[in-house]
Amino acid sequence: MLEIIFATNNAHKVQEIRNRTEGFLKVISLKEAGIHETIPEPFNTLKENASAKSKFIYKRLHKNCFSEDTGLFVEALDGEPGVHSARYAGDDANDSANVEKLIHKMFGKENRKASFITIISLMLEGKEYFFEGRCTGHIVEIANGDMGFGYDPVFMPDGSNKTFGEMNMDEKNEFSHRRKAVDQLLSFLEKEKDE
Ligand code: IMP
Repeated sequence: MLEIIFATNNAHKVQEIRNRTEGFLKVISLKEAGIHETIPEPFNTLKENASAKSKFIYKRLHKNCFSEDTGLFVEALDGEPGVHSARYAGDDANDSANVEKLIHKMFGKENRKASFITIISLMLEGKEYFFEGRCTGHIVEIANGDMGFGYDPVFMPDGSNKTFGEMNMDEKNEFSHRRKAVDQLLSFLEKEKDE
């Protein structure tokens, strides 16, 4: 089975990706790869941030790896928090401060449409490939559920009456932006194997 490093320090993301890739890929976390520092995400696009993270790891370890960057894009807020989703309520903001700020900004807004977008950058044998996954839905008025992470308690995907925060991992992966991006990565690797 192909071994690949997933360049993230977010344990939730590692679990979600392993939930999908089990049996196909051996996903090694950064911790397991012996890297303990935070990799910077200084750019204004998900693609550049994802690329910076996978290249950072590739340069350091010269091993196959991938990274992802995700943002929540809210229509009524002109795409905010977008690529700055992690630092929406300030540089040291935690998930609940970010969620609180979003609920506050959305107070009274009729258009509640939003999308999660994930971009994956894969470094395979020194070459880079990108994959994208999107999930459309809306921002609920009151946070609900304590599963998942980040903005999960305030995002309800189209086709469900539960927020991501009320879903277990299998349920979230039915809808999730990250799962859709990973599916593309898996089919790409499948094709590469056959060639
Ligand atoms: P990053 O991709 O780790 O930079 O994430 C950006 C921000 O979006 C952070 O605040 C995350 O907590 C949040 N985020 C990323 N993925 C998800 C998700 O699947 N659900 C909810 N929030 C997420």
